[in-house]
Amino acid sequence: MINIEQLSVFSINPYKNFLYESTFRLLVSLDTNYIPLGASIDGVPAGAIVGWLDQKAKIALVVSIYVSKKFRRRGVGTALLTAMADSYKKSEADEIKMTFVSPEFPEGLQAILKKLGWSEPAPFIHTFKMDKKIMESPLIRYRKLGPEYSYLIWKNFSADEREALKNQKWYPHNFSPFRLDENEIDADNSLILKYKSEVAGWLIVTPEDEETLFYHLAYVREDLQRLGRLMSLFLEAGSIQIAQNKYAYAAGRVNAKNTRMVTFTDKHLKPYTLKFETSYESGKQL
Ligand SMILES: CC(C)(COP(=O)(O)OP(=O)(O)OC[C@H]1O[C@@H](n2cnc3c(N)ncnc32)[C@H](O)[C@@H]1OP(=O)(O)O)[C@@H](O)C(=O)NCCC(=O)NCCS
Repeated sequence: MINIEQLSVFSINPYKNFLYESTFRLLVSLDTNYIPLGASIDGVPAGAIVGWLDQKAKIALVVSIYVSKKFRRRGVGTALLTAMADSYKKSEADEIKMTFVSPEFPEGLQAILKKLGWSEPAPFIHTFKMDKKIMESPLIRYRKLGPEYSYLIWKNFSADEREALKNQKWYPHNFSPFRLDENEIDADNSLILKYKSEVAGWLIVTPEDEETLFYHLAYVREDLQRLGRLMSLFLEAGSIQIAQNKYAYAAGRVNAKNTRMVTFTDKHLKPYTLKFETSYESGKQL
């Protein structure tokens, strides 16, 4: 018989093999938006699922699911996903979602989601990694902008100017550089773009790991929005990164729904990437 229980720091250990080390650490952090469930068959641990609730969006995300090879095709995955959806329905989530990365498409996962009435997996985000070879691409023609444009390194962006920008309304909240904590931002590589001495855009870069900078967030004022300006920002930051020689790689991501950027990335960046992955998303209304 399959038994499902909510796991706590005291009962999670026998299920550790079914969780990534990073997920395990998050669970031990006692953030109550995480729900870990364990499944056992006749008292033997058979699989586990972990979910996380985005309270603001009211969306529950399945962070990981794993059923022991010995116990597959016996309904454990179905029981775990169903119990997870029920738990989050109680905490008033409107939707449950899951993302997974190709090409490591877990065997059986698509089949089980389909059987449980989840949506057909659709591309969600493309993630890529590059090195300095990108500077050999024809994109380099975008490097220099006209004399009305200038760049300012984030660490030289004064407190007064930041305050002024915080109070301005010309950029969407989603693209605000202030969404990130100051200590997350790499102040040597992030850039402000100025047009006629006024702030007109930015590129915010955050360290991803000890050899990679993640090109996190870029925005250019709407009336100046042409890919050339964004590209110029990226290339300027790339040149700084290369000159500093501290991080060997640059990582970026594009939302699959942003068709203009996807087309651009496919055509101009993909040929120069070391790694290019697509995450897929599937979900169900609760
Ligand atoms: C996907 C997974 C969770 C399914 O668990 P499970 O306990 O075997 O699933 P269930 O027994 O509940 O299967 C339910 C239905 O899904 C479908 N299904 C499950 N696995 C399948 C497979 N390998 N091929 C085809 N269909 C499959 C079937 O329709 C099945 O019903 P059936 O057995 O009556 O035909 C399990 O295979 C697994 O853990 N895979 C590895 C996942 C992974 O890598 N996770 C880490 C990233 S998040």
